[in-house]
Order: sequence, then C-alpha cells, then structure tokens
Amino acid sequence: MPGTASSGLQFDEPPLFERSVPGRSAVSLDPLDVPDRDPGALLGSLLREQAAGFPEVSEPEVVRHFVRISQWNFAIDTQFYPLGSCTMKHNPKVNEWAARLPGFAGIHPLTPAHLAQGALEVMVRLSELLAEIVGMDGCNLQPAAGAQGELTGLMMMRAYHQSQGRSPHKIFIPESAHGTNPASCALNGFAAVPFPAGPRGIVEPETLKKALDEAGDDVAGLMITNPNTLGLYEAALPELIRMVHERGGLVYGDGANMNAVLGKARPGDIGVDVMQFNLHKTFTTPHGGGGPGSGPVAFKAKLAPFQPGPVPSRAADGSYFFDSDRPQSVGQVRSFYGNFGMMVRAYTYIRELGAEGLRNVSEKAVLNAAYLTARLRDLFPLGIDTPSLHESVFSDKALEQKTGVKTLDVAKRLIDYGFHPPTVYFPLVVRGALMIEPTETESRETLDQFVEALESIVQEAETEPELVKAAPHLTRIRRLDEARAARKPRLRWTPTAAE
Ligand SMILES: Cc1ncc(COP(=O)(O)O)c(C=O)c1O
Repeated sequence: MPGTASSGLQFDEPPLFERSVPGRSAVSLDPLDVPDRDPGALLGSLLREQAAGFPEVSEPEVVRHFVRISQWNFAIDTQFYPLGSCTMKHNPKVNEWAARLPGFAGIHPLTPAHLAQGALEVMVRLSELLAEIVGMDGCNLQPAAGAQGELTGLMMMRAYHQSQGRSPHKIFIPESAHGTNPASCALNGFAAVPFPAGPRGIVEPETLKKALDEAGDDVAGLMITNPNTLGLYEAALPELIRMVHERGGLVYGDGANMNAVLGKARPGDIGVDVMQFNLHKTFTTPHGGGGPGSGPVAFKAKLAPFQPGPVPSRAADGSYFFDSDRPQSVGQVRSFYGNFGMMVRAYTYIRELGAEGLRNVSEKAVLNAAYLTARLRDLFPLGIDTPSLHESVFSDKALEQKTGVKTLDVAKRLIDYGFHPPTVYFPLVVRGALMIEPTETESRETLDQFVEALESIVQEAETEPELVKAAPHLTRIRRLDEARAARKPRLRWTPTAAE
C-alpha cells in the first residue's frame, strides 16, 4: 500500500489531574529563609479556604503526559497536511530560533518603550514589510487571527463611513466566501449580502452590478477573497472595485490566500482598501489550534486614523514608541500589542527569504497544486474546470453515485494511508468537495504517494466499499461522532469520583 501509515505504538493517557498524587512535585524548593508569616493575616478575605486542586506530579510524568498526547494527532512536522484553504505549510525552524532569543521570549508586555526598542523595531519593520508586500500604506499587527483581522478591518470601514457622515450597512460577499466573512459582518452590525459567482467560479461584474443597483445608497462595501476559496484568481477585480468605489463603498480583501500571489499581485495596487493577512498561513507562524495566531490588517492611508491602538511607531529621531494618541481609533482589539512571538517568526521568515524567495514560494505553491490537479483530475472531476492557483477543489459525487462511498469516507481512509485529509464539503458551491492545497514545501515524491493513496482508495471503494466506509482502521481512536462532538462537546474535566 503506498504511503501506508504505520500503526506504531501510542499510549493511552488520562488527564494530568488523574495522575495526581498528594505531595508529589516537579520542583524542589530551598528551605524558607525568611520569617514564615501567617498567610491569613497577609491576604485577609482573599485567602482560599481550599487548595486550588492543581495536579501534583513529577517532572517525568508531566513530560510523558504532554509528549504522549502530542503523538495522538496529525502535525505538519510529521505528515503531509493538504487541508485546503488552511495553507498548512512547513514552519521553518529558524523562526523558532529567533522567537526564542531571550530578549524576545522573555520580554514583559508592560516593559516601558525605552527598554523595549528592539521589540518595537521588529514590530514597526514587520508592519512596513507587510504593507509593502501588498501595496498598502500601513499595517496594524494587533489582531490575533484571520477572522479577528476581518472584524478589525470591517470596524475600520464602519468608522470611516461614519467619519464621512454615512452609515451604510450592506456588505456584498460572493457565495464561495469563507464562513468567517459573513460572521465578521454580522458581529459588526453590517448585513452580509451574498451573491453568486459565475459559471467559471469567479465573480462576474454584471452579477455584482445587479446586486449593487438593488441596494441603492446602502453600499458599505465588497468583501472578497482573492485568490478565492476555489483557488481562482478574481480576474474582474479592478472592475468590481471600480463599481463599489463609484457607489461610495470600500473594498475589503480577505488576504488569507496570499500564499498564491506573493511577489505577483498586490491587492493595494488593484484598489483594495483594507485587508487582513493570516500570518499563520502565509508567513509560517504556527496555526496553534485556534490561537495564538496573527491576522494583521493592512490599509490605505484614508483608513489609518481608525486602526487599533496603541500603534508601535518610529519617531523622527529613529527611536520607537507606542502611539496612543489616536482619537479616531476603533480601540484596542487584543491585549497589549497582539501575539508578539508570531511577529518575530513572520519577520524572520520574510527576511530569510527576501523578495525573490517570497515570489518563489508562490510559484512553487501554484506549481505543486497544478501537478496534483493534473495527476488527480481523471480520478475525481474538478468542481469547476478552470485552471486554479494554490489549491484545487475536486468533486467525488460520481464516486458516491457509483459505490456509495462518501467524501467523508475517502477523507477518513486517507488517514490510514498516513495523510491528513483535505478539507471536505467546502466550499459549499461544489457538491462532494475535496479541497486540496499541497503548499510549496512538499516534494514531488510526497505528492506522488498522495496520488497513489487516493488511487488505491478509489479502487477499494469499487471492490470493498465497506472497508472505506468504516475507516479509519489504523488510528488510536476509530471514527468519531463528529456531529455530537461539535454539538455536545465535553470541555470541562470533572473528577471521575464525582461523576
Ligand atoms: C479565506 C479565509 N478567510 C478567513 C479565514 C479565517 O482565518 P483564521 O482561521 O485565522 O481566523 C480563513 C482560514 O483559513 C480563510 O481561509
């Protein structure tokens, strides 16, 4: 079997609390050499009546606990991870070296600016580089994820409209958009107005024009992902932007897929007003399971007054300071200045590669996706048969009609072959979608093994469909009830005895 996963040996591991033994410890403290004061007298009513109930364990127990549970999951450092729309690319280890330099790793967020000049300089330089990469006038590093960047950019758009004495509330969003786009609009009090893309998978000016005409004056803006979630370049973007601007609206660019166009196209040059980056997708900072990520927002000069503060800034004498004097700012969106460790990693990555290297990243990401498309298109038809950039969306509905094996079954079976499944059932505009994004760092050998695994799975679906439907077979835990896990998650540990 090509690329078959080894089942290996994985250990069961209870929550750390269940390993706790009273009095066991991972540290040994020196004897107390100051007077033993009565804590009650010191703390008064703040004194806890009962101990906090932290696990009491030795150092080897803690180490084994975390190493064991780290081995239960897929990781980009262990397997190919072609999760479309998530850009799971290799995080270079030099980033970790830089982020762990004691001056960066140990700095306290409340360190006064005059003692944090190096950290401030990294932030200012990174924001300048990011703005340059996308052709914008400035970039704010505070948001902690792509979705929070969207929220922040939309807050800035609203503040801008208000400063012009307008309060439009419709934001137009193509149907193929990432789910966070309409959610960010709703959180901002905007109405997300969806409209369909054309048969080639990209937005056609006539469709947008019709939607805009129906809205009359109520056009707050367009929110558009480019390249879009089908991996397609929105070729009509200059025309779309012109139409929105003519009606007083602003254009929000979802820059989560910048990995496909670095050094090739700059959203700012095309006319985008504000956009977010997903540093964890494009600039190799770890994804971090929901955080800490980083979603800086880049903007044109007219939106600069509304960015979140305080803003790390460079003074005329070349020193650095936090600019808190920002009366039109939308306010602070994240504690302190954002996830600083991610900024150091992204800065290191950009400096390590330089302009040529970044362009090369996008060329290789697109080449790898094109290679997979060419090798897979006879196995699974493309959702929309247009040449795509960094990712391709295939449809396996023909396989389901023929064998009864569903998209989810194919995805689960891939795990047995040692691959993380691609994104499935997204975007919604393609039935039975398998969205595959290989990224630039994968070798041809890995891509070939992945294709061979899918070929084997299709063969199995035809000869032994039950085997595929019951996958995965080689994992520690077999197929989970995903709906129940999402709807009734058990997020809180309770002692077994009390259950
Ligand atoms: C197109 C697009 N927009 C927004 C997001 C949201 O980013 P995040 O997951 O960092 O909040 C993603 C996530 O992958 C995305 O693909």
